[in-house]
Amino acid sequence: MAEEKKRSSFWTKPNKKWLLGIPLGGFVMLAVGAAGLQIMNTILHETSKTEFCLACHSHTVNIKPEYEASGHANNTLGVRAECAECHLPSMEDRWIHYVMRKMVVSLDIIPELQGKITDPADYEAHRAEMAKATWIEFRENDSEYCKHCHKAEHMVLENQGPMARRRHQMSMEKGGYTCIDCHQGLVHKLPEDWEKVWDEVVEETSGSRKGPELAAADE
Ligand code: HEC
Ligand code: HEC
Ligand code: HEC
Ligand code: HEC
Repeated sequence: MAEEKKRSSFWTKPNKKWLLGIPLGGFVMLAVGAAGLQIMNTILHETSKTEFCLACHSHTVNIKPEYEASGHANNTLGVRAECAECHLPSMEDRWIHYVMRKMVVSLDIIPELQGKITDPADYEAHRAEMAKATWIEFRENDSEYCKHCHKAEHMVLENQGPMARRRHQMSMEKGGYTCIDCHQGLVHKLPEDWEKVWDEVVEETSGSRKGPELAAADE
């Protein structure tokens, strides 16, 4: 009996001045949340800049000169593809996925700190393994990042060279191909023995098309 009385008094309305705490608390939480989002946004933005990537990837000496020499860094149009545009999902479409991917890139810091890649020879020794991880990602996401800029449906095939026209036509008709199947090594030097690595990539991902086989496919 006494027990019940205690409980019911616990659930009676608290003093009026405490009730004010509810909207106030809600407001404080909202403000903290908004500030948190702003900070996260800034971090995501800053860590998406090419300079951030190059902080680690240029001292390996390989990436920066290879990138600068590529048509994706300097070209007649003056349109540049930044590292993040080819290696991270775009902010607008899937920012949850983006944050997850960020966390994976952030893990890069661990081998970096362990001194895994400290000079060009190290880089060469790891290039195949890193290119392989990247190719697998592109095969699995259907070259999603290339499509941040290139849309097959907006290509004017008639204006392309005969090789490009033939292959693009064929890949659209037959289906099952993705950009990376035919466009490896656009920005970075290919690893030694890359075709062997590519075969492993094809084996480990869905689908059965092989880049090097394509030469025969449309003849
Ligand atoms: C803190 C240093 C550091 C920063 C900053 C960094 N990376 Fe890396 N990155 C590495 C290291 C070290 C590896 C090799 C990791 C391994 O083999 O496990 C790597 C590997 C990679 C790979 C190879 C594929 C893979 O998943 O292993 C890609 C692609 C890559 N980084 C892209 C980027 C991009 C794009 C940025 C900028 C948004 C970036 N990195 C920022 C150190 C860094
Ligand atoms: C940020 C936008 C952007 C992204 C992302 C991008 N490209 Fe490009 N790409 C361009 C521009 C701009 C050119 C034209 C360069 C020129 O005029 O030489 C180009 C040129 C090309 C060319 C012509 C050859 C060359 O190197 O100039 C190929 C092939 C190509 N891109 C394929 C790809 C593939 C495959 C991907 C994904 C791995 C990709 N692009 C990602 C903007 C982009
Ligand atoms: C079946 C093979 C194949 C596939 C798949 C393919 N391409 Fe190509 N592409 C070629 C060939 C071959 C060329 C001409 C040689 C070159 O530039 O590498 C070419 C040329 C290009 C060019 C330059 C066109 C020009 O007129 O200069 C761009 C840009 C390009 N491809 C983008 C893409 C994108 C983006 C995808 C995915 C949506 C893609 N390609 C899928 C084979 C392919
Ligand atoms: C046009 C798209 C594109 C741009 C721009 C680009 N990459 Fe890549 N990156 C790729 C592709 C595709 C691969 C897979 C290997 C290949 O085909 O060369 C790759 C591979 C890599 C690798 C694995 C090791 C290797 O050499 O293959 C690293 C690390 C990397 N990129 C970092 C960067 C950094 C840092 C930048 C900016 C300075 C950058 N990438 C710019 C498309 C791009």
